[in-house]
Amino acid sequence: MLSRYPKNVRLKDGAEVEIRPLTEDDFDHLLAFFEGLPDEDVLFLRHDVRDPEVVRKWTEDLDLSRVIPIVALFGDDLVGTGTLHTTSHDWTKHVGHIRLVTARSHRHKGLGGLLTSELVDLATELNLEKLQAYVIEDNIGAIKMFTALGFRKEAVLKGMVKDRSWKSRDLAILTNDVADLDRILEDWIQFSTLAGYRAPGAGA
Ligand SMILES: CC(C)(COP(=O)(O)OP(=O)(O)OC[C@H]1O[C@@H](n2cnc3c(N)ncnc32)[C@H](O)[C@@H]1OP(=O)(O)O)[C@@H](O)C(=O)NCCC(=O)NCCS
Repeated sequence: MLSRYPKNVRLKDGAEVEIRPLTEDDFDHLLAFFEGLPDEDVLFLRHDVRDPEVVRKWTEDLDLSRVIPIVALFGDDLVGTGTLHTTSHDWTKHVGHIRLVTARSHRHKGLGGLLTSELVDLATELNLEKLQAYVIEDNIGAIKMFTALGFRKEAVLKGMVKDRSWKSRDLAILTNDVADLDRILEDWIQFSTLAGYRAPGAGA
């Protein structure tokens, strides 16, 4: 399933980015990426991503049957990451959960959408039927990105989570059907990333 990687894609501004699975060797890159995020982004993330032990666990305890992590690299710099989380034995085994972060330097260039598209392709191969994302309701950028990609806000759980400053926040649950996302993202990529998704010479 991961044999299609590495894969080169082109962002809206023409920059070429490589997308590939996260590896054990990415610890330094991934930590540097998270350390480079501004406080206002980190505030809304589920984990303390600036804690080296958290990042070490993610790079060392890779278990693709539970989490498929992909990264985007611009030259040597890691500029985005996305993860597809699955469960194999409960009543949500047809549902995947996605998380995404892109570097400030590479936002509004289509990278979030392209990473989502990769995760949707992986979800399709795993025969998942639905995808969901959990986002703090005040995280306007993330809510806008997911709704722009066709996700629906299905529920808001009041005071359900605490942000990094330990303030209570409302949690929005956004979902979409994998089949619908596949169609929406194909159109979105065509019209949004004007320079074309796949860079010249990139594999299928
Ligand atoms: C949410 C996030 C991943 C978006 O990444 P991105 O690379 O900017 O995404 P894209 O460029 O593909 O944006 C896709 C669409 O989402 C919408 N969008 C994204 N960010 C937006 C913002 N801040 N405000 C308004 N709309 C936004 C736009 O409609 C955009 O399409 P357009 O640029 O053609 O109008 C990024 O802002 C981020 O990493 N945030 C911090 C981490 C986070 O909150 N992750 C979500 C929790 S899982």
